[in-house]
Amino acid sequence: MASISTIAGLAPAPTRHAGLIAWVEQIAALTKPARVHWCDGSEAEKAAIVADLIDKGTLKALDADKRPGSYYAASDPKDVARVESRTFICSAEEIDAGPTNNWAEPGEMRTRLDGLFDGCMAGRTMYVVAFSMGPLGSELSALGVEITDSGYVAVSMGIMTRMGSAALEALGDDGVFVPAVHTLGAPLIEGQADVAWPCNAEKWIVHFPETREIWSYGSGYGGNALLGKKCYALRIASVMARDEGWLAEHMLILKLTDPKGRSKYMAAAFPSACGKTNLAMLQPTLPGWKAETIGDDIAWMRFGDDGRLYAVNPEAGFFGVAPGTSRNTNQNALATLATNTVFTNTALTADGDVWWEGLTKDVPAGMTNWKGVAHDPASGEPAAHPNARFAAPASQCPTIAPEWEDPKGVPIDAILFGGRRASAVPLVTEAFDWEHGVFMGSTVASEGTAAAENAIGELRRDPFAMLPFCGYNMGDYFAHWLALGAKADPAKLPGIFFVNWFRKGEDGTFVWPGFGDNARVLKWIAERLDGEADAVDTPVGRVPAQGALDVEGLSLSEADLATLLEVDAEVWTEEAGLIPPFYVRFGDRLPQALWAQHAALTERLAAVR
Ligand code: PEP
Ligand code: MN
Ligand code: NA
Repeated sequence: MASISTIAGLAPAPTRHAGLIAWVEQIAALTKPARVHWCDGSEAEKAAIVADLIDKGTLKALDADKRPGSYYAASDPKDVARVESRTFICSAEEIDAGPTNNWAEPGEMRTRLDGLFDGCMAGRTMYVVAFSMGPLGSELSALGVEITDSGYVAVSMGIMTRMGSAALEALGDDGVFVPAVHTLGAPLIEGQADVAWPCNAEKWIVHFPETREIWSYGSGYGGNALLGKKCYALRIASVMARDEGWLAEHMLILKLTDPKGRSKYMAAAFPSACGKTNLAMLQPTLPGWKAETIGDDIAWMRFGDDGRLYAVNPEAGFFGVAPGTSRNTNQNALATLATNTVFTNTALTADGDVWWEGLTKDVPAGMTNWKGVAHDPASGEPAAHPNARFAAPASQCPTIAPEWEDPKGVPIDAILFGGRRASAVPLVTEAFDWEHGVFMGSTVASEGTAAAENAIGELRRDPFAMLPFCGYNMGDYFAHWLALGAKADPAKLPGIFFVNWFRKGEDGTFVWPGFGDNARVLKWIAERLDGEADAVDTPVGRVPAQGALDVEGLSLSEADLATLLEVDAEVWTEEAGLIPPFYVRFGDRLPQALWAQHAALTERLAAVR
């Protein structure tokens, strides 16, 4: 490929894409970096960027025997999670961002960004990171280019996406890409010493849905900075999907195979930090059942010519929450991150490895905590930040399905919704039909976790687990789901189910064992799809009939089982009463069909009270 020089004296562009070159030149003129580097995605390039980051103190190499090819970063203590309060959807009309997103007038926002980005990369290297979301060349995939002044972001994008020359080649001379600009917002003046984790106290995560652009200022953290993930593959892609008739969803994808060798593909949406990664890598406790992983966070889905819904995982890596990951909870995740992994905000052990709460029962002595000081177990402070993360290649997962990169995607048999609910919500409920399933998805609620800013334990509505990730009015989003289902052949639509692993008993402990035993619920779902398992109708949907859920070998009492599957009409009448105050926020953008679903639920509840 011919080299075309971009900026006088700076790196030549390894592309003939005139639009891309012009955009890179424009951003370089605005942000004024010291250097421009076009990423090729090679191992040699990664080694060079890593060496530079080690030099600057951003990364530490972990012990080469214990954790080969792996690195550790500790962030600024004020840059540890996505910042939803600083995340904006700048549609032309405020109503199109909807009541659940922050909105700012696009012209005003552009003026603000022009000011913020002027000279923001001074003294730093500007990395040009071309990437594919989805397998290269798949019709379900789409391309993007992230410009970033963070080497940590460039390296992480190399793990999380198909990044570099292959993506540039896929772009060709005039391919469409989503432009994404990221800066730490920490320019260096001549002679100024850098810090290990540069960032800015001010943060802006901005999306322009109509022009499909992303601008991110001031944070180096995952979802704020790795722009292929939440910003592109969910917020911008959800808008593309609305316009083009497909679905961009906050869903894991897994393959479940029964003892007879029959496989089902399931996509599941749970709010952040509710165990998507664990379910995606589940090890069934049921003999003869096998689970394999396709993706742990995002699904792009489109109806195929045969009328079925096909899904790909647009990502190439897992950016998972480390705390709580252990041999008991997710052995496959541990195996995945044995090598070639970047850890952020875990603790460091004295012998050059990482540790987090839950990894082992014993707390190793002599650790350095995520804030870089000696860990004092007596302090009561965790050694790892509760939102400490790993970024690891999906290909390293022992249970990765052979078809995980199939350009056709996999045909989805079931869609699951869920959240963390201590009360009311049964272990599993089957929707009566697609429309009822969309109603279920629209009412997902969960108790707060470390992944978001809201208080831990507080209930928040998180429809389709997309609340922080839908790039447009969620009323229109519900309508899009309804419309796709209405157009499809009902016999070929996936079944829709609602699950809740987190039901608590009167003593305040979890009733359901969870983890590998969640396969028992998936088994019932698979058997329902095959017409082989019994269910009983309740006002909220179909739950397993007596004896239909395989609980053999579990130490569950009859009372426990009753708690897990009970639908208390009193409690549910209260629960149903919480929906209208949420729905009214969407005004006339809330589809009438969902109000009708709510009315039907209320009637079914009244009939049994
Ligand atoms: C993130 O916070 O960057 C992220 C990937 O998100 P979450 O786990 O919240 O879905
Ligand atoms: Mn997520
Ligand atoms: Na997060």
